Amino acid sequence: MGAACGPEMIVDPDAVRAAVLAARDQGRRVGFVPTMGALHAGHVSLVDRAAAECDDVVVSIFVNPTQFAPQEDFTRYPRTPDADRTALAGCRVRWLFAPRADDIYPPGWCTRISMDGPASRFEGEHRPGHFSGVATVVCRLFMAVPADRAYFGAKDWQQTLVVRRMIRDLGVPIGIVVCPTVREPDGLAMSSRNVYLAPADRRRATALWEALGIAARSWDAGHVPGAIERSMRGHLESRGIAVDYAAIVDAESLGPVEPAAPAVALVAGRVGGTRLIDNLQLPARSMRNE
Ligand code: PAF
Repeated sequence: MGAACGPEMIVDPDAVRAAVLAARDQGRRVGFVPTMGALHAGHVSLVDRAAAECDDVVVSIFVNPTQFAPQEDFTRYPRTPDADRTALAGCRVRWLFAPRADDIYPPGWCTRISMDGPASRFEGEHRPGHFSGVATVVCRLFMAVPADRAYFGAKDWQQTLVVRRMIRDLGVPIGIVVCPTVREPDGLAMSSRNVYLAPADRRRATALWEALGIAARSWDAGHVPGAIERSMRGHLESRGIAVDYAAIVDAESLGPVEPAAPAVALVAGRVGGTRLIDNLQLPARSMRNE
């Protein structure tokens, strides 16, 4: 449904909620892909996964002001509604939910979700208020789109932890599916912000993926987290990247690596004027070499 003539466009949160509830009443499984638009192959992979697992798919496009700090790129964040519709034309999407700001944050709105735990470190430190804005809008979107499952990209690994904790703590009845990062042929993770990169910066941006490769090889070789972090940082700095963090942490708590538990390598930094993040999962290993 929705493939031949493109998705049905819905602006009103009450209308999308009614449509989703009616579908679920008919026994249909509904999948939800929340986005901020400027869709790329990473988003399409989420939509395709949702379409493979669900009867109906909802995609939302909303550039959420509350997850941007005042000095960040909210006003220049790419908004490409025509290209987004084209990107979704070949996908099996039933509804495209594109609310206005007032629909999500009604006049007089004064409620925000505040989070510690997985929201505290890394992006939480470098973008104060960011995860409060993410948790708030995702919760609001989940109220409007009471789907069976929601699909997020592993590229924003910390965001997936924040969303999973938020729904657990607030008892929001939705399943979270985390899908693999989609990369350019040279390894750069797909991101709507990649369009900001000047050609020379675009070439240097591969250093994030290279740093994650260093992490994976060093992890396999049994090196301790501190040594791996120094190698990652050294590589990024050697390519002229202003590093915000280069860390090896427990994949679930984002605290110190635990024995025999999966870890994650996290990197973030500025390439020219563009801030990029990336990560790589590291399999559980014995800590005997540490
Ligand atoms: O990952 C994103 O695009 C955004 O953070 C999200 C989850 C759509 C919330 O605005």
